[in-house]
Amino acid sequence: MTNVFYRDVAKRYPTAVRGEGVYLYDADGKRYLDGSAGALVAAVGHGRREIADAAATAIATLGFAHTSQFTTDAQEQLAAAVAALAPEGLDHVYFVSGGSEANETAIKMAYQYHQRRGKREKSIVISRVPSYHGITLGALSASGHRSRRAAMAPLASSWVQVAAPACREETCRYVPACPACGERWAAAIEDAILAAGPDRVSAFIAEPVTGSSCAAYVSPRPFFTRMREICDRYDVLLIADEVMCGMGRTGYDFAIEHDGVVPDIVTTAKGLGAGYSPLGAAIVSRDVFEAFGATRTFTHGFTYCGSPVAASIGNAVLAIFQRECLRQNALEQGAYLRRGLEQLAATQPLVGEVRGLGLMQGLELVADRGSAATFAPERRVTARAVEIAFGRGLILYPAGAGATERHHDQLLIGPPLSIQRHEIDELLSLLDATLSDLASALSIVR
Ligand SMILES: Cc1ncc(COP(=O)(O)O)c(C=O)c1O
Repeated sequence: MTNVFYRDVAKRYPTAVRGEGVYLYDADGKRYLDGSAGALVAAVGHGRREIADAAATAIATLGFAHTSQFTTDAQEQLAAAVAALAPEGLDHVYFVSGGSEANETAIKMAYQYHQRRGKREKSIVISRVPSYHGITLGALSASGHRSRRAAMAPLASSWVQVAAPACREETCRYVPACPACGERWAAAIEDAILAAGPDRVSAFIAEPVTGSSCAAYVSPRPFFTRMREICDRYDVLLIADEVMCGMGRTGYDFAIEHDGVVPDIVTTAKGLGAGYSPLGAAIVSRDVFEAFGATRTFTHGFTYCGSPVAASIGNAVLAIFQRECLRQNALEQGAYLRRGLEQLAATQPLVGEVRGLGLMQGLELVADRGSAATFAPERRVTARAVEIAFGRGLILYPAGAGATERHHDQLLIGPPLSIQRHEIDELLSLLDATLSDLASALSIVR
């Protein structure tokens, strides 16, 4: 008997009791290599004593001070550190408790920004399909995630979403990947702004590297360059959702740097608290911040905004991130992981494509690589892959359900940024065994 309302109400979950480095342990003593850092969260690894010490000190010193009444040293220090990592000119940080809250904040901030400047009609948020921006209603309304939207369709507002272009280039077999696609997708979004009426469009939001809706999909250049130009042309704010891909995950502090583009707002979360505390942030340009100067208020706020305990934990996470050069490690180990995945793809026919940046890599699973045919959804290929891997002691993140009808079987690999080479070797060998088991279960001949 349990009183917990589980994510999968019918499932019986093993009890996790301990974490150390890239490993988790359950109550039976089984060890799991955390190949997805949960959901690309545990960026500095598990069981960090110094973070526990920082949390204990923070709780003993100042457990809580409401941000409508006080600021705290912890919040000030973290804001300065996050602003220093963020693209040039993004120097004001609004703290929240996670990714959905960060995107809700960005969406509401964009709306009120336009209101403050007398542009009262600007309220529509434009986004892409596939995409995932969070589960709260505003963030979900902006998400182009098939299964998560379908579950709550009448509740999500129908803002405008623009699907990925179809392309016949060989390089674009699984996802749009060529410069022409970058141009075409941006042009389609411009058309959508024009159709909605530029006076009514508030913001455009996109993940520089897509997470759960389409595993580690990197937008082809010059997509973001064009979007910066288009957003400027129509006075639309550009929001980069770096909840998953930010904080060093891709080998850049923020993945949008890869495109050399400066957004108006960057949201981030997972790697910031690294699983030790619910923590997220909307990092905002001076221009956006200053629009709130006259009225002095941004009508928004959660009770736990800027929690001093969460901020102290964020500071301890960032101290490790800097001292251990984890961004650099993501770049180096990411390249090593990528090579290993490509070698694995050469011998595992289920792997249609390997893609990603740094320690955010995705696999597309297919029925036939020659024709790029995919499996019927009823075969539950992604779910079976994750189950087999879990049984073998490897944690993978399922990522296909938000993509197109055709590309629904994808796996996301994103271990802690502290992972070392021998641990990647172990990850690759467990993954290889998983794919072999899966191929046998699906009766695929190697
Ligand atoms: C890109 C992106 N945005 C937003 C979210 C929502 O974050 P949270 O689950 O912390 O609310 C996620 C979560 O996976 C995400 O990957």
